[in-house]
Amino acid sequence: MLNKVLVAYGTTNGSTARIAETIAEVLCKEAMMAEAVPARSVTSVESYDAVMVGGGLYAGRWHRDARRFVRRHGRALAERPLRFFSSGALVASASERNIPPVPGVKRAMLRLGVEEHVTFGGCL
Ligand SMILES: Cc1cc2nc3c(=O)[nH]c(=O)nc-3n(C[C@H](O)[C@H](O)[C@H](O)COP(=O)(O)O)c2cc1C
Repeated sequence: MLNKVLVAYGTTNGSTARIAETIAEVLCKEAMMAEAVPARSVTSVESYDAVMVGGGLYAGRWHRDARRFVRRHGRALAERPLRFFSSGALVASASERNIPPVPGVKRAMLRLGVEEHVTFGGCL
């Protein structure tokens, strides 16, 4: 069983933070120790067994904090189970169909061997 899960997020207006906190709450109900932490505050991922990274979408790119996080911790992230999510589409389409990752996120997924990504509807 995975013990400790980090849900790191990059947000400007708070909706990605709320999604990350909800994910962490759900994981805690599944008997994991999960915590949602702003990506810019994370100094090391070594103490976590698995990591989820999420970012709000701005002008077709992941939030800067999420991008920097995966660059800074790339090696350690690649050694752990890793999942990505984005928050952005303002229309109902995010809940009706799977919206693929934006190109920069897709590249990071290929680089780090991430197979799963979800886009959640965001809000303004
Ligand atoms: C200036 C601006 C640019 C945005 N660009 C995109 C975009 O390219 N793609 C998208 O799906 N959503 C876009 N959005 C919507 C945001 O991603 C959405 O509001 C998201 O929930 C913001 O996340 P945050 O609240 O965590 O900062 C944009 C919003 C703003 C204000």
